[in-house]
Amino acid sequence: MIPGDTSGFKTSPVKMKLGRRPFTCFLPRRLRSCQCVVLGVAAINVIIFVTVFQGTAPRRAAGDGSAQIRGLLDAGDYAVSSRLTAGQTKYRNRLIVDNAAERRFTGEISEKTLCGYRTTSYIFNIPITLNQDPFEEYAKSMQCLADDNAALFSGMFAAFRNAVIDPSLGTSKRKGGELMDEVWDQKESDEYFHLSSGYFKIPCRRKPKMYFKNKDHLVQWANSLECYFDNPPTDITIRDFTLAIQRYEYVNLYHTMTDFYNAFVLMLLFGVRPSKMNILFVDTHPKGHLDTVWSTLFGKIIRAGHLNKPVLFHSLGWGMLGYFSPLNEHSRKAVPYLEEFREFFLTQHNVSTSHQLDCKKVNVLFIWRRDYVAHPRNKQGSVVRKFANEEEMLEQTQKTLGGTANVQGFQLDLMSMKDQLEVVSKCDILVGMHGAGLSHTLFLPPTSGVLELKPQYSPSSLLHFEAMARWRQLPFSLWHNTESSNEQKEHRTYIPPLDLDEEVKKIYSKICGTG
Ligand SMILES: *[C@@H]1O[C@H](CO)[C@@H](O)[C@H](O)[C@H]1NC(C)=O
Repeated sequence: MIPGDTSGFKTSPVKMKLGRRPFTCFLPRRLRSCQCVVLGVAAINVIIFVTVFQGTAPRRAAGDGSAQIRGLLDAGDYAVSSRLTAGQTKYRNRLIVDNAAERRFTGEISEKTLCGYRTTSYIFNIPITLNQDPFEEYAKSMQCLADDNAALFSGMFAAFRNAVIDPSLGTSKRKGGELMDEVWDQKESDEYFHLSSGYFKIPCRRKPKMYFKNKDHLVQWANSLECYFDNPPTDITIRDFTLAIQRYEYVNLYHTMTDFYNAFVLMLLFGVRPSKMNILFVDTHPKGHLDTVWSTLFGKIIRAGHLNKPVLFHSLGWGMLGYFSPLNEHSRKAVPYLEEFREFFLTQHNVSTSHQLDCKKVNVLFIWRRDYVAHPRNKQGSVVRKFANEEEMLEQTQKTLGGTANVQGFQLDLMSMKDQLEVVSKCDILVGMHGAGLSHTLFLPPTSGVLELKPQYSPSSLLHFEAMARWRQLPFSLWHNTESSNEQKEHRTYIPPLDLDEEVKKIYSKICGTG
């Protein structure tokens, strides 16, 4: 765990100006004549920009001048609007901001420079106004550094143009991506890099001062940053936006969800298409069962440990650590863009988001926790917080809800993410022990409810899933065992059928409005 330290840090907001230098002019000294062209282009841009936004704000900007200004996110390119079905109309209407608001936000900035950010983004042709905290605050205090080759966002994340990674200056015991059988019992500390000065390089005359709020890996990354002059010291180039991240607890669905969510929001802020956002793992964890989810959601996966020559990244982001995600702040009143995140996550897995609740035929999903080997430091795969009476729970719930209810239990971690989402996206009542699997609360239909169960030994201070349900406004109930006799060997908890009956009825009456 990384200690959080938010003291002693201040940013001075730098307001973004229109008409910044185009992408190709990042070496102003060497290309003096470029400046004139730049001013001309900037002026034309401003004129087009103003003209465009005086009229009706266009949803799509294919081929007109605004496309350049607003970044190159042509929503149509990856739109799956045909997948939007009747059930989603409500959702869609909620997302469309009125034109005045859209103008106001898009009107501020955003063009094809990394030293900028979007105030409106499109996901599946639906505009999202990026005006929610904490991200709006991070974006608004953006600082442009090193001749606009670096942008620092409130000490939480950053982006660079033409950054070079020199793999010879990063050392780790492992390369990452190994099979678990090859690395039994390796220390967690073997799964991170030590970076020497020059691992990251950007075009600059003086190394920019970059303060990061949290004492996390970004401080180490910033320390390793050096300048290069003239030509980038490599001939290998990656053009697509690449988000560099360092993962902790990479096989835990809850923690990985905070990473997915952070990456999703940065994708919106930087205006990148999902398939054009590569993910660079700057860690050396072995293969994990959630790795492939990254490439389903975003572009290519690159492991820093597998680079063997310096590489130039046209656009490189430094992502936010999962622990500092708003998703991990359980006392927050709200977490922005969660419905959009759900839509994105399910749609990227080709899973429908249009389930309709039928109170005569509710779908109940029990998540089973069972012993399961997921990483090299738990060879026995022993898992706590298991149920002692799975069969009895299914039978009781069927009795409670009647024969037409569809009551099922799954050990989700044995299934592919797509198969997990297929059941979760149709689930009306989700039941599970406190544990990462309940992160699926984020993907339930907006008409569902959640029942969380906790053994006696589980602290009541853990609010991860209650918070997720609250943010999504889903009915939620918690049953916390108080009888020692219900706790059995091997961390199995007996759930008394009468208690379950009462809890399931409670959730049912909340989602079906019968209570
Ligand atoms: C979703 O469908 C597309 C198009 O058929 C396919 O290329 C992609 O692999 C599918 N994704 C998943 C996760 O099944």
